[in-house]
Amino acid sequence: MDNAFGQPQTIVVLGGTSEIGLAIAHQLLSPVTRHVVLACRDLVKGEQAAASLRGDGFEVSVAHFDGADTASHERVIGEIAERVGDLDVVVLAFGQLGHGEATGQDVAEAAALAHVNFTGAVSASVAVANRLRAQGHGTLVVLSSVAGERVRKANFVYGSTKAGLDGFAQGLGDSLVGTGARVLVVRPGFVHSQMTKGMPAAPFATTPDVVAQLTVKGLRAGRRTVWAPGILRVVFSVLRHLPGPVWRRLPLG
Ligand SMILES: NC(=O)c1ccc[n+]([C@@H]2O[C@H](COP(=O)([O-])OP(=O)(O)OC[C@H]3O[C@@H](n4cnc5c(N)ncnc54)[C@H](OP(=O)(O)O)[C@@H]3O)[C@@H](O)[C@H]2O)c1
Repeated sequence: MDNAFGQPQTIVVLGGTSEIGLAIAHQLLSPVTRHVVLACRDLVKGEQAAASLRGDGFEVSVAHFDGADTASHERVIGEIAERVGDLDVVVLAFGQLGHGEATGQDVAEAAALAHVNFTGAVSASVAVANRLRAQGHGTLVVLSSVAGERVRKANFVYGSTKAGLDGFAQGLGDSLVGTGARVLVVRPGFVHSQMTKGMPAAPFATTPDVVAQLTVKGLRAGRRTVWAPGILRVVFSVLRHLPGPVWRRLPLG
């Protein structure tokens, strides 16, 4: 359970090789940490990530988890909880960017991206929420994106999965009020990570460490939403209301 300073004993990262997910886990480490579980589809990469987190007084382990394999989610979450006890913070970090042109025109690619980023994220979140509700405490951190705030034509399948996920996560959070469990929705802008490697940076681009700092601050303050960086909240409150012809002409990639 989190202590009075909001420091969790047990941290789980779904998509345990995600740079943002790992940065959040790293920022959450404290003397009360007992277990960190990196749940990922590539166990070799997971072990490398685990090595970068290990320290004194807590265990870092790797579990197999595939966001696309929705039938396994309840079992995987259950097995992790059986092994490490109550889950204090679960970070839903898995996701794919896809290639805008391909996913916009290829039926199989569009469906595969939507399956992982939306269906898989919904399934894993419901499995986690059931566990947190039964415990009576714990936070699910959902990595949404500003890409879902107003969907860009350049990568509209990705953007739409984040729009759907964001709405789902807000509704899930509302449904958990009064249970002791909660949801924190994180909306990063462009983040320099494996996902965006080689891409030109968007305005207000940031790093996994900055997203992690803002996330941990939001967790400790009991916030429901975090923008990373915070200025994007203001920027998107304007962009959201631009007329379509103006929005379509913006050089947003
Ligand atoms: N980077 C950005 O600009 C940005 C901005 C806003 C939101 N986000 C969101 O933040 C989250 C983390 O992104 P990141 O920047 O940390 O990128 P990242 O380092 O590429 O992390 C994405 C993670 O998702 C995992 N993944 C993909 N498909 C999976 C599947 N089917 N099952 C399990 N894991 C799977 C990847 O695993 P592998 O290592 O096996 O590929 C990787 O660990 C994503 O949801 C992303 O959409 C990122």
